Amino acid sequence: MTKPIASPLPEASGPRPPVFELVDVEKIFQVRPPGRRFTRETVGLRALDGVRLRVEAGTSLALVGESGSGKSTLLRVLLGLDAPSDGRAYYRGRPIREVRAEGPAFARDVAMVYQDARGSLDPRMTVRALIAEPLRHFDIVPEAEIAARVAHLLERVGLPADAARRYPSGLSGGQIRRVAIARALASEPSVLVADEAVSGLDVSTQAQLLTLLQRLQREMGLTLVFITHDLGVASFLCAEIAIMYLGRIVETGPTDAVLSAPAHPYSAALRAAAPRFFEPLPEPLPGEIPSPLDLPKGCRFSTRCPVAQADCRARDPYLGRLDAGRFVACLFPQAGDATTVSALSQEEGAEASGA
Ligand SMILES: Nc1ncnc2c1ncn2[C@@H]1O[C@H](COP(=O)(O)OP(=O)(O)O)[C@@H](O)[C@H]1O
Ligand SMILES: [Mg+2]
Repeated sequence: MTKPIASPLPEASGPRPPVFELVDVEKIFQVRPPGRRFTRETVGLRALDGVRLRVEAGTSLALVGESGSGKSTLLRVLLGLDAPSDGRAYYRGRPIREVRAEGPAFARDVAMVYQDARGSLDPRMTVRALIAEPLRHFDIVPEAEIAARVAHLLERVGLPADAARRYPSGLSGGQIRRVAIARALASEPSVLVADEAVSGLDVSTQAQLLTLLQRLQREMGLTLVFITHDLGVASFLCAEIAIMYLGRIVETGPTDAVLSAPAHPYSAALRAAAPRFFEPLPEPLPGEIPSPLDLPKGCRFSTRCPVAQADCRARDPYLGRLDAGRFVACLFPQAGDATTVSALSQEEGAEASGA
């Protein structure tokens, strides 16, 4: 496998290193070949491939993409739970796994809200005990102040004080998510990472939680990394967006810019497929999403891309700069200063394929 050639990453905007930086991160899982459950043989499944990403302090980033595109795997790399198979992953300028292994400071600073909020909470514990747990674990306040801090956190996330006495089974889906957020905030993190934290809720509950997260992010200056498959959620909550397809970030930049004029045909298709009132849905993308065990040659989106050309089946475009803060992995991007990117990517493609 040829390595991606270095293309420019977004310039660091300040003297401090970004909260996260991924450079050409690859994650390969060894899995059994499809349809052969009893073999001991394994094949490599490329869940992340040449991922480049920079998350600056205080920003909010949405990770968007179809199921199986590698969002959760990317999050596990950011959290230091999975080591990249190749490439480098940094937290504030230092290798994530190294920082994580040093002690609890990393886990305290980078808090996680899980997809299955109810499943992540012990049903035998009261809300008070659930929120007190991280307060004690990270030694945030003295024992005498725990009750007051729990009350404060409940208030922060918009739960009534008497919720402290309840058990998860007595809470609604929206309340459960608020408890999960309160638990995440207990360690006084500067980074909040969430995987589909508002999925599967009715729209009004979802809107309330999004408003809460937006307020918390602003008030506390949190850096937010938010996985969602909902572009509406991404555009409401997140200043930046990264769109993933089959293990690769195909476009990233300011959410408004990316969604108002998508440069990658896949971003354009995702936006077109988002339901809007009174408008008929466009033709869906042709074909099925390919298996990550059998990635298409050249550009991995070329098998479904409405504007693919012959070149696209031969060259694998890496993330190149489109304009300020905007990057796209496409030989024929649809917006912005297209010439710069295609020149960049084709050059890289030629180098990467050993031409
Ligand atoms: N622990 C694992 N072992 C093997 N394959 C995995 C593992 N975790 C994820 N994958 C595979 O990696 C790809 C990306 O998965 P994931 O990161 O969960 O995607 P998403 O969160 O976008 O739905 C999928 O093809 C998935 O089947
Ligand atoms: Mg996932």
